[in-house]
Amino acid sequence: MIGSSRYRTHTCTGAADARGERVRVAGWVHRRRDHGGVVFIDLRDRSGILQLVFGPDAGDAHDQAQRLSPEDVLSVEGELVARDAATVNPRIPTGEVELRVRSMDILAPAEPLPFSVEDEQTEAGEELRLAHRYLDLRRPRRLHAMELRGRVVRATRRVLEDAGFLEVETPMLTRSTPEGARDFLVPSRLQRGSFYALPQSPQLFKQLLMVGGIERYYQVVRCFRDEDLRADRQPEFTQVDIEASFIEPEQIHALIEDVFTAVWAEIGVDLPTPFPRMAYHEAVSRFGSDRPDLRFGCEIQDWTEAAAASGLGVFATVVERGGVVRGIVVPGAGGGLSRKDLDALVTEAQEVGAKGLVWAVPGAEGALRSSVKAEFLAGLPEAFGAAEGDLIAVVADAPATALSVLGTLRVRWADRFGLIPQGVWAPVWIVDFPLVEWNADERRWDSLHHPFTAPRPEDEAKLAEQPGEALALAYDVVMNGLELGGGSIRINRMELQRRVFALIGIDAEEAQARFGFLLRALELGAPPHGGVALGLDRMVMQLAGERSIRDVIAFPKTATGADPLTGAPAGVDDTQLRDLGIRLSRPQGS
Ligand code: AMO
Repeated sequence: MIGSSRYRTHTCTGAADARGERVRVAGWVHRRRDHGGVVFIDLRDRSGILQLVFGPDAGDAHDQAQRLSPEDVLSVEGELVARDAATVNPRIPTGEVELRVRSMDILAPAEPLPFSVEDEQTEAGEELRLAHRYLDLRRPRRLHAMELRGRVVRATRRVLEDAGFLEVETPMLTRSTPEGARDFLVPSRLQRGSFYALPQSPQLFKQLLMVGGIERYYQVVRCFRDEDLRADRQPEFTQVDIEASFIEPEQIHALIEDVFTAVWAEIGVDLPTPFPRMAYHEAVSRFGSDRPDLRFGCEIQDWTEAAAASGLGVFATVVERGGVVRGIVVPGAGGGLSRKDLDALVTEAQEVGAKGLVWAVPGAEGALRSSVKAEFLAGLPEAFGAAEGDLIAVVADAPATALSVLGTLRVRWADRFGLIPQGVWAPVWIVDFPLVEWNADERRWDSLHHPFTAPRPEDEAKLAEQPGEALALAYDVVMNGLELGGGSIRINRMELQRRVFALIGIDAEEAQARFGFLLRALELGAPPHGGVALGLDRMVMQLAGERSIRDVIAFPKTATGADPLTGAPAGVDDTQLRDLGIRLSRPQGS
């Protein structure tokens, strides 16, 4: 328990319980009001706000209070009293009391701020706010996110500790782990010309911990991936990383459902378990994505057969070439759209990869507004169950393209047209992933998760002849359209691991060079094991109702991977480069 210091005996909110007592509080000047000789200051600390009153009887403190600026740091001492009934503020926990100040120490003055730290006034650009992130963190909304993040980690640890999981740290200076992104490299000074990689995840180490007999491991751990950034991606992010031995997928699912239940309880939500399960192929064909948002309908429907006979040339050509004609219905979205608005949807579809888009909006008594002659779309509204005013969007293309375009548009338009219910949580486990997928550009098979994922035992035989048909013991947990975690049962036999490496084009020599340490461990008694990793930043983002993970990370990077606060990444001295044996081919900053 932290007791009183020379700066304070109570926090601002804690002082509310000390009516009639002499108390000392410390914090920042949030607001100042002068009322004919009496100065009111709202003093803010992490706990909240307390009103200070500097009457003429406060002596020197009264004079100083008239000159205080926003965000000056104070320690004040005085008597905690009830406010007059007329001035009670029911909106804050300390609204019935105020501190009659007797003396004040100004601990640190603040110059005029580059932007306001009140939530309502956040028009300052992100670059400016990140350059002064410590000011941005003073905003109640940021503070709320940081507190929530702390509570989420605590709740997660409690569940895992209670289930017998042991937190073990793994190295940050290591070798490349193949999670599909580029590595961040760290040059070695002692072994010039050699580089460490920062871990994309602790994947291999957690498997080695299982070989080491740890049996139940977890870690709240930073991971590093050099990839293009988006609202839900940062170059360094935090995983709740988990691995267990002698375990089956159902047990991992149940454990993660316990974690989620405890975490969502932190925002007062009671998540029902078990979460539904959906096969990968079903998710992709109904929602055009392996992270389906199940809070609303607008499912993808097939019109291929009817389209081939519709008389529209483009439909017939696509179908002849093995393509499909599929579409979605966005209820109520079409009625208010002009022809121009509707044509803009075609451009939007093209931007996300479609060659084109056919739109249609049923009107009264069988009328149809549409981008092609209505006769080509005969029977479409009925087949799709569309009603007057609904927007029908149809894409004819190769199956994978049609699905991915419609999957993207489904989510965008549901959001734009207000079809996503708020306050609804729709978790789902995606299961039965294929083990590998065909990479047409490089003409080879790629792992869908990572190369240590085990195929279903009954599918091992398919690896040689029909690898695309083999399903993996892999699973992702998805919430409201966001992938919050993923994992799998791992390969624990050397011979099978070699076969999977060979399948994805890693020959014996390369396997030995990159993962020899893992292969060796698999020869020395590796228990059956599996695990999962949760994206902590994404979870907190959703719980806090934010749209970017930057909002729930204390010191995030911008979209170009920069930190405007410290100026990282930055150039280094020539001597540092010389020590590392590195010469730049172009000058720094070019
Ligand atoms: P995976 O690569 O799916 O699995 O990562 C697990 C979870 O981490 C989150 N995540 C990210 N969050 C923010 N920024 C990023 N750049 C980022 N990349 C991933 C996602 C994702 O679901 N070793 C495996 C796990 C395992 O097999 O046990 C792994 O890392 O929420």
